[in-house]
Amino acid sequence: MPGEGNPFARIFFVGEAPGATEDATGRPFVGRAGELLTRIIKAMGFSRKEVFIGNILKCRPPGNRTPTEEEQKTCFPYLERQIEIIKPDVLIALGRVAAVNLTGKKTSLSSMRGEVHHFRGIPVVVTYHPSYLLQRGEPKELKKLVWADMKLALRILNGEI
Ligand code: URA
Repeated sequence: MPGEGNPFARIFFVGEAPGATEDATGRPFVGRAGELLTRIIKAMGFSRKEVFIGNILKCRPPGNRTPTEEEQKTCFPYLERQIEIIKPDVLIALGRVAAVNLTGKKTSLSSMRGEVHHFRGIPVVVTYHPSYLLQRGEPKELKKLVWADMKLALRILNGEI
């Protein structure tokens, strides 16, 4: 499942791996987490068609487990090439797996949030995975943090950072 979106996208969202629905349809983020991601994209003033949505893994790990390091390493060159071709102005890492791969830092997600990292010279903003928000019942405090992260990405796009 390679991902989908605008080949000239300014924003490239990177998730973890396709889930069951994504595997069945061949499209990224189409389940409940996808609905939430779509809402986030709209709140930023974009449509799904304007951005690009991909994942670290191109296949669904059995039972939706966290991808192994070997799986991540095996798939990463494909994402690297996608980023090279699309040349987005900002990468948004959704969750820790994407964040670790794009920042090269193996720390907690909360410690990676709030600052601008770089991947091959492209700014990277780290935020919580939409599935994590759903698991937690979309609490206001968490939504506020995600929105702060999206505002950081928008400031990058607007040339304010
Ligand atoms: N979760 C992800 O990380 N990626 C998808 O494509 C769907 C759910």
